[in-house]
Amino acid sequence: MANPLYQKHIVSIPELTREELELIVSTAESLKKEPRPDLLKGKVIASCFFEASTRTRLSFETAVQRLGGTFIGFDNGSNTSLAKKGETLADSVQVISSYTDAFVMRHPQEGAARVASEFSTVPVINGGDGSNQHPTQTLLDLFSIHECQGRLDDLKVAFVGDLKYGRTVHSLTQAMSHFNAEFTFIAPDALAMPDYLLEELEEKGITWRTAQSIEEIAHEVDIIYMTRVQKERFDETEYKLIASQYILSAETLKEAKPNLRVLHPLPRVDEINVDVDSTPYAYYFQQAENGVYAREALLALVLNETI
Ligand code: CP
Repeated sequence: MANPLYQKHIVSIPELTREELELIVSTAESLKKEPRPDLLKGKVIASCFFEASTRTRLSFETAVQRLGGTFIGFDNGSNTSLAKKGETLADSVQVISSYTDAFVMRHPQEGAARVASEFSTVPVINGGDGSNQHPTQTLLDLFSIHECQGRLDDLKVAFVGDLKYGRTVHSLTQAMSHFNAEFTFIAPDALAMPDYLLEELEEKGITWRTAQSIEEIAHEVDIIYMTRVQKERFDETEYKLIASQYILSAETLKEAKPNLRVLHPLPRVDEINVDVDSTPYAYYFQQAENGVYAREALLALVLNETI
């Protein structure tokens, strides 16, 4: 059966339907159970990271190899003709896409993945563009939520930390809007959810609220999605004040529901105390591992008309 993701650019979450998100989650589930080392046979994937990454790049490259494909690329853009000789992103993308079957890119500029999709002759997959979107993180988040909760519908999800610049929060909020989630946002005023995202929720009739602390909501939510408060955006005193308000510890979770799971896109700094790691609520390392299966699923669907 033909799939709707075949040859599609994956630039932002709002461009994916509920059915497409569910298809990726179910494909990831089946690839986790039963590896398919044939799905990218003969395919070459570009893995171009203009910005630092550990999980996204390495899980994409693992996914390509596990499906029988190969990749080319770089893990920082500093030695490219774009950085050294003034080549435009548009020209770089046009050329690299002519060598490959799909183009995975992370870039520090918001909108860079969209530009790439306009000049690429093969599907572009956004591996994160500035503080805008991180759609493949959202796919692994959805897969992890489905895996640990047994469903995606009707969940109570709290987002904590840097909700202004946290692209993973932006993408996941939009995705979970398809599944009747109830959202709680916990962030310092300076790092609150952007208005345009809250307006989108209002337009869709999605329930959301804010809270001052994790303690207020830990006993009633299904998912706590922690994010890192970005130290570089504050002076030392201000950072310490803000960051200390949003530290999750095992003690914070003492009245949590048994099904609560804590997610974090990682890397963490100190917003999740290591004593949480050994509680049944910690799911962030399984979540990071799931990045391989979610990215396998996406690549398999984008590059195979039927699978
Ligand atoms: N979660 C995530 O995007 O991690 P990296 O920045 O290490 O890729």
